[in-house]
Amino acid sequence: MTTPATPSSLGTDSSPDLFAEAEPRDVVARLSLEQKAELVTGATFWTTAAVEEAGIPAIMVTDGPHGLRKQGGAADHLGLEQSVPATCFPPAVALGSAFDTDLAERVGAAIGAEARAEGVGVVLGPGLNIKRSPLCGRSFEYFSEDPLVSGELAAAVTRGIQSRGVGACLKHFAANNQEHDRMRVSSDVDARPLREIYLRGFERAIASARPWTVMSAYNKINGVSASEDPWLLTEVLRDQWGFDGLVISDWFAVGDRVEALRAGLDLEMPTTGGASQEQVIAAVQEGDLDEAALDRCAARVVELVQKVQAGARTPAVDVDVQAHHALAREAAARSAVLLKNDDEILPLDASASVAVIGEFARTPRYQGAGSSQINPTRVDDALTAITAASRAEVRFAPGFPLEGAEETASGTAESLRAEAAEAAGAADVAVVFLGLPAADESEGFDREHLDLPAEQLNLLEAVVEANPRTVVVLSHGGVVALPFAQTVPAILEGWLLGQAGGSATADLLYGTANPSGRLTETIPLRLADSPAYLDFPGEHGHVRYGEGVFVGYRWYDARDLDVAFPFGHGLSYTRFEHTDLDVSVEADELRIRTTITNTGERDGHEVVQVYVGRPGSAVARAPRELKAFTAVALQAGESQIVELRVPRQDLAHWDRRLDRWVVEGGEHVVAVGASSRDLRQETRVEVPGDEVAVPLTRESTLGDALAHPLTGPLVREAVQEAAQSGGGGDVFSAEGLMRMLESFPLGRLGGFSTSGMDQEWVDGLIARTRRG
Ligand code: BGC
Repeated sequence: MTTPATPSSLGTDSSPDLFAEAEPRDVVARLSLEQKAELVTGATFWTTAAVEEAGIPAIMVTDGPHGLRKQGGAADHLGLEQSVPATCFPPAVALGSAFDTDLAERVGAAIGAEARAEGVGVVLGPGLNIKRSPLCGRSFEYFSEDPLVSGELAAAVTRGIQSRGVGACLKHFAANNQEHDRMRVSSDVDARPLREIYLRGFERAIASARPWTVMSAYNKINGVSASEDPWLLTEVLRDQWGFDGLVISDWFAVGDRVEALRAGLDLEMPTTGGASQEQVIAAVQEGDLDEAALDRCAARVVELVQKVQAGARTPAVDVDVQAHHALAREAAARSAVLLKNDDEILPLDASASVAVIGEFARTPRYQGAGSSQINPTRVDDALTAITAASRAEVRFAPGFPLEGAEETASGTAESLRAEAAEAAGAADVAVVFLGLPAADESEGFDREHLDLPAEQLNLLEAVVEANPRTVVVLSHGGVVALPFAQTVPAILEGWLLGQAGGSATADLLYGTANPSGRLTETIPLRLADSPAYLDFPGEHGHVRYGEGVFVGYRWYDARDLDVAFPFGHGLSYTRFEHTDLDVSVEADELRIRTTITNTGERDGHEVVQVYVGRPGSAVARAPRELKAFTAVALQAGESQIVELRVPRQDLAHWDRRLDRWVVEGGEHVVAVGASSRDLRQETRVEVPGDEVAVPLTRESTLGDALAHPLTGPLVREAVQEAAQSGGGGDVFSAEGLMRMLESFPLGRLGGFSTSGMDQEWVDGLIARTRRG
């Protein structure tokens, strides 16, 4: 009935056109129960089932996200076995820092082209989970601590991948913010942070890029498995957001296939060797599962196969390996963040002698471990690129052994340090490559601290002592503490820059490229300052999101905490001036215009950031939230008027009483600048609010009734009267009395016989708010 499938069967079945043009529902209507059950679970580790009689070919889905990880032989979901060579672009931690959606789209298109050339139907990425704690082991796979940045960048990568006739996959849906206990833990998160922080990026990317697929996460949300949650996978995703693609499970995420089907999880991956099929068939036969639910999921699989087939018929773009490497280099140069550059020590003068120190210069760290690990087409190292860029002497000292490497070949930590200090002392400038050992950060586990290895910090101290003209270049996927931030004059935050990171680093050091990356996450002074510090990674199967909406800079700003480097920060070799801010409030958006001028001598990119705050809000809020951004390319001396838009909906918070978004009216502060703490211009605008009238119940308080537009005047009047008739005693005015009574439930006011606010009065108030 069904045959084991390979993607090569794509489009080679007996009736491709009939299948391609058929309504998915009609295709499914002709399938047997067994065939439908086959379709909704993977046939192999990476492919769906083919149903030859119905002309349904298999398709291949594979990782993602910053390049293609297509395995030819043995398969695994942890990046352990080999995959075909593919361009390793900068992982999301770096690409996000460019704050450039066009660039991200071009990278996505290149990944899509490589996937297409390899016969892959869906690339499992981008990943857009929020960086809740800097310790998350997969930080390198995610864009930001901010949902706008995450959503916009993910949308751009999605558009790019899908422009090549290949599907993208937003992952991991949702609230998957740690690796510890990842297949079981329940992310216990309130409605507001869930909607405003953890779901918002997904909602945005789905609305703007229409991904073909979304991957359900391993974890639970408030006790319910994300892969078996009808609220998440159907109510929110489809009914509220209008998602019309396919939901695929994370690998081995499904505990109960029948429950998952009911919830709206269309395709379980990978194969379960027939076990899931048996469960599904039995559940339908025993009347435990409505066959219509199975039909819906099967139809979505059919529709995805049709999309992949149609994509495979569009004209293919040749994969130019050199051009993709060049794009990886461009993207890497745009992604690194120049944190500090005292006395303009950078860019380096090509005629200055340089001591290149640190094993990472020769043996680069350019991606993280796990399912996203790409087999690169080539790898550039910074040492070779610096040697090529320099016209003076370049001396290399490894400085420290890589973890696991025997110290004997190159000496002990002490002798390596002495050798490095000697090289630094003899050179005009020292460039020290520090970073986290590869084994420290990976899918599957979280870090326990933010520290760089002690031998690296000791090395740096010795080098700076020998030559204060020292530049630090960092390679790591998650934020690290920077105890040397005050003592070294320049720091280039290189994250993990992909296969061309080495040459891009030399481009930046020598000024062939001008740094323009900005932090998509705050670098705290101490781990203990970070928002989730006390609630990460949880215990006994639960992690409490106690910081609520105060994630990332929202937390540091609300608590007025000093940080090492703030969200949005990043320097350039040129300077930008922001002037002429003008904000207009339109019915459906804020329109922001500002002039940006490159007042320096080099061409460069400025990342213009718009933050909006609502002082005195009735709900707990951060002082400001990023609401729009754009990366502007400006030649030296050039000036440009930049227009940004903030859709009205983006000003809304989630009202948990009404279970919907609400724009709170009133004065909003719009600030535009070069980082969350380098706001150059500010203005205040009045934004009309949404009508909010929550019907009163006996559980509502007198305060609720006072705030309600229909009952407020009546309550004010009644309290006034009560105060005048002595109800406030000698102490309270009407205002004071109100303050004292505002938390009193209406249903329990009846006992106040003297107040006039008796049962009948209460019933009248409630009735008023229910009439219309
Ligand atoms: C990861 C996914 C990945 C899948 C397939 C899982 O371990 O969480 O991101 O796409 O494996 O490799």
